[in-house]
Amino acid sequence: ADIDLQAVHDTLVSVAFEAGRMILAANPSSISTDTKLNAVDIVTETDQAVERMVSSRLRDAYPSFAFVGEETYQAGVTRITDAPTFIVDPIDGTTNFVHSFPNACISLGLAVDRQPAVGVVYNPFQDLLFTGIRGRGSYMQRNASLEAGKGLGEKVKLPLGGANPPALGDLSSALVSIEWGSQRDGENFEVKARTFRKLAAARENGGAMVGGMRSLGSAALNLCACAAGQLDVYWEGGCYAWDVAAGWCILNEAGGRMVSGNPGIWDTELDSRVYLAVRGARSGLKELVEEFWKVIGD
Ligand code: IPD
Repeated sequence: ADIDLQAVHDTLVSVAFEAGRMILAANPSSISTDTKLNAVDIVTETDQAVERMVSSRLRDAYPSFAFVGEETYQAGVTRITDAPTFIVDPIDGTTNFVHSFPNACISLGLAVDRQPAVGVVYNPFQDLLFTGIRGRGSYMQRNASLEAGKGLGEKVKLPLGGANPPALGDLSSALVSIEWGSQRDGENFEVKARTFRKLAAARENGGAMVGGMRSLGSAALNLCACAAGQLDVYWEGGCYAWDVAAGWCILNEAGGRMVSGNPGIWDTELDSRVYLAVRGARSGLKELVEEFWKVIGD
């Protein structure tokens, strides 16, 4: 049966605002924190409480849909199938959250046939909401949760991408986001370290390889910044489907493109774990992806 993606979107937005209230109410300096993979792979009781709330709301509203969440994922057991699947990160940017660095969000995606179909990313610290529905565009909303007449700011809803987005130039002028992630050893660390080094280096002609490098500390917010045209490129090796599912839909709908972070692979899977995102542009996208792959692959 056809899924009413607008209705799913509306449910996800209201769940995102509820999650946002929980995140704002938590006091990161007094909540208990645990570690997963290693000492920098952090989970807080707020991550767990938000995921419990989200999964129960979504099971009530869509009992037949599958659910994959960061805090209940089981390596080797949890799989994303063709079924409609909610893919959820209750707090993306947990390290930022723990430090009260206001760059964290809830990331709520729906995949159908393993393709992103709806994305909702909400940063409660900035009351900033990004949404996308397959085939219907994506939006950024400031003061998103305000009710009419309440609060100081005005609600502003901006379409992303637009009809004539600026062309992409060479990598040497691009603003590039790249994350270390939590794995700091083994082959994954080597790939990241090589990639960072190549991107941060000078060119033989004395110029820089990239215009600038950033790390926002949240995969979902990196993707939304690409969708909004604030970043040109985002690369990460080692994150998971719940980090990218929602932002991927928002990026696609803004005319951007997600490809593999491994050189040469244009079509990539939700759970491929190595991603390269590029903002929407009237021209230059293919050239920039190819230049990026060449630089990191050489
Ligand atoms: C992390 C953030 C971070 C990225 C990591 C993710 P979490 O998600 O998105 O930016 O570098 O790979 O694991 O753990 O805060 O939900």
